Amino acid sequence: MTPTTLFLNAAQTLTAAGPARARRGGEMADAGVQQGIGVAVQGERIVAVDRDDVLRQRFPDALEVDCDRGLLAPGFVDSHTHTVFGAARFAEHELRATGVPYLEIARRGGGIHSSVRDLRARTDDELFTLAVPRLARLAAGGVTTVEIKSGYGLTVADELRTLQVIRRLAQTQPQVIVATCLGAHEVPLEFRDRAGGRQEWLALLMHELFPVVAREGLAEFADIFCEPGVFTVEEARELLQHGQRLGLRAKLHADELHDGGAAALAADIGAVSADHLAAIAPSGIAALAASDTVATVLPGTMLFLGTGRQAPARKLIEAGAAVALATDFNPGTSPLTSYPLVMTLAVSELRLSASEAWIAATVNGAAALGLAGETGQLAPGFRADLAIHAVDDFRALPYWFGERLCVGSWARGRACHPMR
Ligand code: NIG
Ligand code: FE
Repeated sequence: MTPTTLFLNAAQTLTAAGPARARRGGEMADAGVQQGIGVAVQGERIVAVDRDDVLRQRFPDALEVDCDRGLLAPGFVDSHTHTVFGAARFAEHELRATGVPYLEIARRGGGIHSSVRDLRARTDDELFTLAVPRLARLAAGGVTTVEIKSGYGLTVADELRTLQVIRRLAQTQPQVIVATCLGAHEVPLEFRDRAGGRQEWLALLMHELFPVVAREGLAEFADIFCEPGVFTVEEARELLQHGQRLGLRAKLHADELHDGGAAALAADIGAVSADHLAAIAPSGIAALAASDTVATVLPGTMLFLGTGRQAPARKLIEAGAAVALATDFNPGTSPLTSYPLVMTLAVSELRLSASEAWIAATVNGAAALGLAGETGQLAPGFRADLAIHAVDDFRALPYWFGERLCVGSWARGRACHPMR
């Protein structure tokens, strides 16, 4: 018989238990916090969530993990990262501080383009080796599921190479890793600066890259940076619908810096998520609220860009949308691996309640990856993705900002981050 592990002696257990789908609007207010409740795990799955004494009676031979009066919670689902990249981009950070905008840096051939030059010059082994400690840092904050996008290759071969590195990470690292093809992160410079170049690049993505990605199962999702000055809504529609026909579900970098109607497009084509949304228009909010597309907000990005602006997360929730949080971990706009800090920003900057932030970080993060039936809840049948934090109240995690309070995390029942 599969051995059982019991997680016991928690001060609070945040279950997020409920329907296996995104929670929208007022549903986000209840994070299912209970006391005296433990979790039983067999293999990769949660088999029971019940009172500690009941679990001890039911599984007398189980191993026990002592939560030490801490908080037992689902592992965070980080549904938007760009974890596979080469070097950091310090110079750009300072350049923005002097007033040069993000898109202007890109126009000059920096920004994403500098990460592209860098990635192309590195071996697969180097990229893999650089990503491993980054994933460990995410795990140390309680993240047990990580989406990783390609998008710094921007040739068919380098995009495929990036997705192979992501696959190798998925096969070797303890966290659950989900891949997204972001070949439409930018128009590569060698295509951008000549007539017809951008159409050629989009055609390469649709007809050369996507078919291989879909056939080899190298990614679940196709994503695009849909933003005035990068890719238009019309281009995004054509590309993403082509991906959908091949079996790649759609995600978008939508309305990040300027409103271009990308959120409404996401809703219209049935994208799994629309991400960023700091410049979303009221019509975009209404469109997301009326759709099943998860509105993923990335407060670390807006903080780091220093725009003084954040996505209207409260308005999205009040309109009835399902809001998720993520780090957007990347070298340009969000060199952030601390999910707990995202939780703080969710309350302080986005004005979510602590319960809403927890639901956004767990159930709704899972829904943003099409995994709401698999992870994001402490409930029987769900994957054993969980974390223990050294706090005795779920509100303390966003409150003690910048602290390192996660003492252990497990994905599929396996340790990602050791206890002490
Ligand atoms: O999500 N906005 C586009 N993509 C990333 C940033 C990528 C970069 O600057 O390297 C983002 O913010
Ligand atoms: Fe991003």
